[in-house]
Amino acid sequence: MSILQIKNLSKSFKTGKNVTSVLDGISLEINKGDIFGVIGLSGEGKSTLVRCINRLEQADSGSIYFNDDEIIEVGLLYGSSLRNYRKKVSMIFQDFNLLNQKTVYQNIEFPLTLGKHHHKKAENASRINELIKLVGLSGKENSYPSELSGGQKQRVAIARALINNPKILLCDEATSALDPTTAEQILDLLKNLNKELGLTIIIIAHQMSVIERICNKVAILSEHKVVECGDVSEVFLNPQTEAARKLIYSGHVVTKLHDSKLIKFEFNGDTNQPLIANIIQECNILVSIVYANSWVVDDKIYGQLMIKLPYHEKDIDRLKTYLDLKNIAYKEVESDELGDSLKGR
Ligand SMILES: Nc1ncnc2c1ncn2[C@@H]1O[C@H](COP(=O)(O)OP(=O)(O)O)[C@@H](O)[C@H]1O
Ligand SMILES: [Mg+2]
Repeated sequence: MSILQIKNLSKSFKTGKNVTSVLDGISLEINKGDIFGVIGLSGEGKSTLVRCINRLEQADSGSIYFNDDEIIEVGLLYGSSLRNYRKKVSMIFQDFNLLNQKTVYQNIEFPLTLGKHHHKKAENASRINELIKLVGLSGKENSYPSELSGGQKQRVAIARALINNPKILLCDEATSALDPTTAEQILDLLKNLNKELGLTIIIIAHQMSVIERICNKVAILSEHKVVECGDVSEVFLNPQTEAARKLIYSGHVVTKLHDSKLIKFEFNGDTNQPLIANIIQECNILVSIVYANSWVVDDKIYGQLMIKLPYHEKDIDRLKTYLDLKNIAYKEVESDELGDSLKGR
């Protein structure tokens, strides 16, 4: 069931005489329980999209529908209905946005002090303490942001974002300022919250590694449009557009390519054979790996592996005969499938 439906959303900004289109007819459907990734290079309009979703920004045209108990059109909300909606759709940011003069506890409490239920102090305290435990900050209640690491600060921001029991958590580059290990821990925390609270999460990122780690769905933005959208495993295994291939393969290519022919293998959660070792041993061919990547979706391992086609005709025949014999699926691809920008890297 879809919890958020974005239909043909467009937005442009005027700067002086120039009008720049930032979102150009974006349509997306996000289901309840999804961890939905939106990826694109810097400047593609990702943050603008997020700001349209929580109505910090009004789109020029198109609509966003939020389906909780009833379907509401986000663009038409105002006053108390808008404030209610914002409680259900909360947000975390790259730079945490904590209040430096307040403790961990007070930061998490802060959204409640804006509402009319602040008198329910005892009830609020148990909720705040529960959240502190949930995000792994027990013992840090009275610390100030300046006494915390980046990862701990983002945990405070997550707890604060959860204080009103939101249905959707928007994460705009929430791990971009963190070192890789800390980023992974925060992503794992988000995955846990998705599982345990049934929280729908929308993750904005410019790095594939973020999407690979926790998302089930992904949309790729290029030239301010959605160019691909679907299950992470499908989009990653078979990127259809140049833009998607650049994003997916970038950073993974290890060998210089000179318009060579490649063989591509895809793993979709059902193999544990040491493919390369077998080819080397049984075909007596030295394999040159051009690209390899794998990730886990729903506890299954997916991946792709590309090797260079052997130089000698008879080696190629032997390899193909072996793969056919063993029923190993493969595709022959051109090296420019890796994206022109990566050639010769
Ligand atoms: N309020 C604004 N006024 C004018 N231009 C803006 C405004 N907000 C964003 N932009 C422009 O829109 C483009 C997309 O920005 P943004 O949504 O932040 O992209 P991303 O998050 O993908 O990097 C950028 O070129 C940015 O300069
Ligand atoms: Mg941004």
